[in-house]
Amino acid sequence: MNEEFVVTPYKVSGEVDYEVLIERFGTKRIDEELLARLAKYGPLHSMLRRQIFYSHRDLEWILDEYDKGNKFTLYTGRGPSGPIHLGHLMPWAFTKYLQDTFKVKLWFQLTDDEKFMFYDHLTLDECKKWGYENALDVIALGFDSKLTNIFLDTEYIKTMYPTVIKAAKKINFSTIRAVFGFDNSNNVGSIFFTSIQTVPCFLESMEQGKKVPCLIPCGIDQDPHFRITRDIAEGMDYYKPALIHAKLMPSLVGAEKMSTSTGNDTTIFTTDDKKTVKKKVMNAFTGGRVSVEEQKKLGGDPDICSVHAYNTYFFEPDDKKLAQLYSDCRSGKIMCGECKTLLFEKVWKFLEEHQRRREKAKGVLDDFFVRD
Ligand code: TRP
Repeated sequence: MNEEFVVTPYKVSGEVDYEVLIERFGTKRIDEELLARLAKYGPLHSMLRRQIFYSHRDLEWILDEYDKGNKFTLYTGRGPSGPIHLGHLMPWAFTKYLQDTFKVKLWFQLTDDEKFMFYDHLTLDECKKWGYENALDVIALGFDSKLTNIFLDTEYIKTMYPTVIKAAKKINFSTIRAVFGFDNSNNVGSIFFTSIQTVPCFLESMEQGKKVPCLIPCGIDQDPHFRITRDIAEGMDYYKPALIHAKLMPSLVGAEKMSTSTGNDTTIFTTDDKKTVKKKVMNAFTGGRVSVEEQKKLGGDPDICSVHAYNTYFFEPDDKKLAQLYSDCRSGKIMCGECKTLLFEKVWKFLEEHQRRREKAKGVLDDFFVRD
């Protein structure tokens, strides 16, 4: 098997085997039994049914506590280094589903400090600016302002700092080096940073003055940070945070995680206009054959197709329709052009509405932001 891939918060490379990753990281699969339990709280999200959110730590415990009347809090975040693309929105849309289903509070961290420390090409002001831009996309997804606190690290550090240094004191350099693959050339800010990503797990507890369970929906690449958090949490008199992990969104060019760094021709940003979105979707990598005749005869391969991946991850929530597209592709009944056009229509319908809500969000930022 392919053991060559790497997944850390700072590096994703190779072809990720998500089964192997569960073993490497020591997480648990979200199995049928857990899905059945989750379905009792409301209709299962398609990302659960399709195993996009597929792994967890202590999710059963979160539900046990919830059943006893002890509500958890949600925590997720974003490193504001540039514009938001569709891949970024997936875990947040799922977070919104969790907020709606369980009626719980969300803490959303914008790590302007992190992106400043890790990227040479960005000034701190630019990271902050992206933080505010990115928050518009978060708000546009429809989070409840009464239940959602968004903050930039540099604007909430006074509240967090005492807890940040208590966490930092418990984390050794050797742990950081091993977990993130750092070496002597990393700046000391990046070595310190995990302590800052740790503290939002405890913000609800700090606010309420008692231990509150915390659930973190995130891409599985972020798990290494929270492994460290889980090791130190009880020693700081908080609960270990629980996690629910997503696979990484594939890009329109193929298997790799959708990323701003693979280039702008295939990444769909939330602010792209209709023409641009159409061009990007029509240029997507598919599982098609060299000619129409051949495809009619042999069928396509949806398993390697980025258009099919987009439908699976987000854009075709109807399981029956998705299965139909899959078999029509395999049997050579539907050609790539048609399939791309269908995807484009779905993507644009979503984005048009998203862009409207994003504009509206500009007027309500202060209902969401917390500052020191
Ligand atoms: N470090 C994350 C990133 O670079 C941002 C982040 C901060 C985050 N806190 C989080 C992501 C909690 C998931 C959950 O994107």
